[in-house]
Amino acid sequence: MIGFLALAWRPAILPIDPPAKTSFPAELIASGQILAGAGYCEVCHTRQGGEKLAGGYALRSDFGTIYSTNITPEPETGIGRWSLEAFTRAMHEGVARDGSHLFPAFPYDHYTKISDEDVEALYAYLMTRPPVKATAPVNTLPFPLNIRTLQEGWKLLFFRSGRYRPDAAKSAEWNRGAYLAEGLSHCGGCHTPRNLLGAEKADHAYGGAVIEDWVAPALTDENPSPAPWTQGELFSYLRSGVSPLHGVSAGSMSPVIHTGLAAVPDADIRAEAIYFAELDHAEARTAATDAAIKKALATSALGTGQEYDPDARLYAAACVACHYNAGPNPLPARPELALNSALTLSEPTNFIHVVLEGIGTRDGGPGLVMPSYAALGDADIARLAAYLRRTRTDRSPWTDVETKVAALRRQAASAKPE
Ligand code: HEC
Ligand code: HEC
Ligand code: HEC
Repeated sequence: MIGFLALAWRPAILPIDPPAKTSFPAELIASGQILAGAGYCEVCHTRQGGEKLAGGYALRSDFGTIYSTNITPEPETGIGRWSLEAFTRAMHEGVARDGSHLFPAFPYDHYTKISDEDVEALYAYLMTRPPVKATAPVNTLPFPLNIRTLQEGWKLLFFRSGRYRPDAAKSAEWNRGAYLAEGLSHCGGCHTPRNLLGAEKADHAYGGAVIEDWVAPALTDENPSPAPWTQGELFSYLRSGVSPLHGVSAGSMSPVIHTGLAAVPDADIRAEAIYFAELDHAEARTAATDAAIKKALATSALGTGQEYDPDARLYAAACVACHYNAGPNPLPARPELALNSALTLSEPTNFIHVVLEGIGTRDGGPGLVMPSYAALGDADIARLAAYLRRTRTDRSPWTDVETKVAALRRQAASAKPE
């Protein structure tokens, strides 16, 4: 125990007088702004309706709720008195200025891969933001999970500190994509399944996971979409929130794209697309794409006629007007449901979310919205799900859909912003 405590103890780094804004070169601040976008600092460090970067955003997990902190340069409640050294240690080691361990809800297990230069640019950006006085609410982690010292044990088991090391066998673009995806953009933070202690399963990277009651689908060749996620599809989706052959972003993927990656130049988005298109072996699967699209579009008209099937009629009444594609290729403004992972995933979670909540102006493509169908009863939504799964995919039926609709409806009601 004494050895453990010795290890768990980290020295405080002395506070400094807040640095003058003018001490940071403009180019460094500009590059920090892009990096902050790629790392979604603002998404996690801004509570709904709150000042930018002033913290208080609630991250819910199986263990309890953790609130992000104020990372504006306000000296008393923010990080105004943090030196570059203290900030770098937080990003690379998950240790706060006062020496206490930070919880991995802050993705330092990914940020440890960020280069020193990029950390310096992030520091310059944050230290030149408007200071805001704000203190985050107290976390609701139960004892003993709330004891920060015990985080050292977690770190010993799961955390490997170290900067990204380029793979010499790969292109510069691939390496750029990998650097961003594994570090700042921490795509695995949501798309990699976690073990019982909340650490990402290293041997199942990007294998798909449930995050805040949504499914973040696999980004490997385990992704169930009929058409592979090629470089082009990935670029379009990550850039605009819409991809012609897969549909649109919703849930927590929307702020990743529209608040975070929006700051990032095309070249970096392309690099990430190159990295993931290689990971999911899209190239080897494109031969089958045309057949998959044809097959999917052949189902598009189901429900447009006067089928006697009452499920088809429900679909015709509620959905078909916007989702029917007549042409040889689906239109991005009318996602072809047979191609959408919401129907092919092993759980109906994302499908139910979309029907209950619709797709708002901050999701999906610019200017495109889908109304909420929360007015439909649980049984009707379950019928729609079963009907589409049956007629649009080859997958086995989902089970207990009605119960799942009711559960997500309750979830949505209780998760209303605080
Ligand atoms: C997935 C959500 C998430 C993202 C994204 C995120 N943070 Fe955080 N961050 C947190 C949480 C939660 C904490 C508080 C952790 C704790 O209390 O142990 C935190 C704490 C911190 C701290 C320690 C501050 C303190 O007062 O102790 C710093 C510094 C920080 N984040 C910087 C950043 C930067 C820079 C970025 C963007 C590159 C970023 N964070 C992105 C969730 C996030
Ligand atoms: C905060 C959590 C989060 C982060 C971080 C995140 N994703 Fe996602 N992602 C999701 C969720 C949830 C969905 C499902 C959204 C939907 O169905 O519209 C998703 C969907 C996707 C999809 C569509 C998959 C499909 O088959 O429909 C792709 C591609 C994707 N993400 C790529 C990425 C990449 C690349 C990154 C890193 C740059 C990333 N994601 C980071 C949560 C996240
Ligand atoms: C008024 C037109 C309209 C109606 C009616 C409509 N949708 Fe949509 N739907 C859309 C649009 C537009 C999008 C893409 C939104 C975007 O890009 O922001 C979409 C997207 C979707 C998605 C894809 C979500 C994703 O993550 O890729 C699903 C699934 C879906 N709709 C199912 C349904 C179902 C089921 C119904 C019937 C209950 C329905 N829609 C009714 C317009 C509509």
